Amino acid sequence: MDNLIKDIDIISGEEAQAVDYKTTVEENTGKSKKIYIESYGCQMNFSDSEIVASIMKENGFDTTSDFSQADVIFLNTCSIREKAEQTVRKRLSDFNRIKRSKPEMTIGVLGCMAERLKDKLLEEEKIVDVVVGPDAYRDLPNLVNAAEDGRKGVNTFLSREETYADIAPVRLNSNGITAFISIMRGCDNMCSFCVVPFTRGRERSRDPHSIVAEAKDLFARGFKEVTLLGQNVDSYKWSPEENNKARLNKKEDETSSIVNFANLLEMVAQVSPILRVRFSTSHPKDITDEVLYTMKKYDNICKYIHLPVQSGNSRVLDLMNRTYDREWYLDRVRAIREILGEECGISSDMIAGFCTETEEEHQDTLTLMDIVKYDFSYMFFYSERPGTLAAKKFEDDIPLEVKKRRLAEIIEKQSQLSYERNQLDLGQEQIILIEGTSKKSQDELKGRNSANKVVIVPAAGLKLGDYVKVKITECTPATLFGEILEINPAMA
Ligand code: SAH
Ligand code: SF4
Ligand code: F3S
Repeated sequence: MDNLIKDIDIISGEEAQAVDYKTTVEENTGKSKKIYIESYGCQMNFSDSEIVASIMKENGFDTTSDFSQADVIFLNTCSIREKAEQTVRKRLSDFNRIKRSKPEMTIGVLGCMAERLKDKLLEEEKIVDVVVGPDAYRDLPNLVNAAEDGRKGVNTFLSREETYADIAPVRLNSNGITAFISIMRGCDNMCSFCVVPFTRGRERSRDPHSIVAEAKDLFARGFKEVTLLGQNVDSYKWSPEENNKARLNKKEDETSSIVNFANLLEMVAQVSPILRVRFSTSHPKDITDEVLYTMKKYDNICKYIHLPVQSGNSRVLDLMNRTYDREWYLDRVRAIREILGEECGISSDMIAGFCTETEEEHQDTLTLMDIVKYDFSYMFFYSERPGTLAAKKFEDDIPLEVKKRRLAEIIEKQSQLSYERNQLDLGQEQIILIEGTSKKSQDELKGRNSANKVVIVPAAGLKLGDYVKVKITECTPATLFGEILEINPAMA
């Protein structure tokens, strides 16, 4: 039981959000100044911190993992739920103490909270010197310079074009095996609960050639897995005509040059059969059978789809403006099962207690979970965000205790389902990629199977980056345990 509670903690995103941040690692290339970056929120934000580190490196800054050594501290922030913002405010008050003894230190707030609050942040948090939104990171060196001369600065300009395609990210916190590649920025969906369209601006896709070049470079440097990132990867779309208006005059065959997400996946999968490809997030309204068939065609495209449902009830989905209903969602799951089979991993995000949600409608989320049998989920209770459609149109009328009780029921359901799904793996032979040491023991290593489940194996004879054929021998709701059958088996 003890084990079970710990596992539930791990998959309950709301708890994780409060403590989950990443810091920069030490990189000493002899530069005269140091930055320390702490990143909150989603993978896209962590990925942006790598772009920020790269821009700052070009301008004379090394990274440090010790904020007391830093000349500049950046907090790359998240606004998705109220709690995420509270965490950042608390962190700023921690840094306040350090700044008192080191007044020349520059403190910058970056990311989604910077974009949402703009210059209000300078008024509210006196220790902040610069406020920079997700599309304005090229301006950071100027703003930091100005701050060092005593001039505070804000740049929260949102761009329709910026994709930082030409910037090679400095890999922070890297295990040297798995890396994230941003393939698009922003979001054009207007889910009524969500702040992202306001903090990240319009959706734009990055040049596929720069994406493939980044994947090739990572592979050449020993990386074995890339995850393609976007808020809605299935709406990835790039064409020279659309993305480079100057070329519009050329009379090229328009359709032939459009790259959609299935095409991009295929291009990245072709980099090497031993470079694994993952992606996130898929939107249920946009995921196509073409993407599913492309996944099937390539062994190195991992059989795992993060397909957030948010709610299992069609009326609530309509209020959320998700633009699909329960039947549409279940039809997409049917397509995944038909094309990719039972072993394809499926995970979700769920929001408990959205405005006006009734008990029966909450039950619909639980029954949908039973039908889909998610491998795992990130689960939250609704947190009203200022400026969103829901904040403007609906009353946040579900009492906190009710939201929390419904969330606990969803978490409990997911824990049972994760355990059920993991038990199906017992006795199976699977290929895992070794990517780190186990949290619990030095003598064990951690890998992931194609379906994105963590598999713990004995460390002896293995190194990071090995592909290992394992037989699954044990499981908990969150983890599989395996015995080693073969190290680096031949892969097509
Ligand atoms: N682009 C992704 C989601 C990014 S935000 C998608 O469309 O699925 C990650 C998750 O945070 C969302 O899926 C949602 O479950 C949750 N979330 C977003 N806004 C929220 C809010 N106001 N309250 C609670 N959870 C929220
Ligand atoms: Fe937010 Fe919806 Fe866009 Fe996801 S698809 S980032 S939930 S608006
Ligand atoms: Fe948070 Fe912004 Fe990501 S609000 S979840 S950091 S896009």
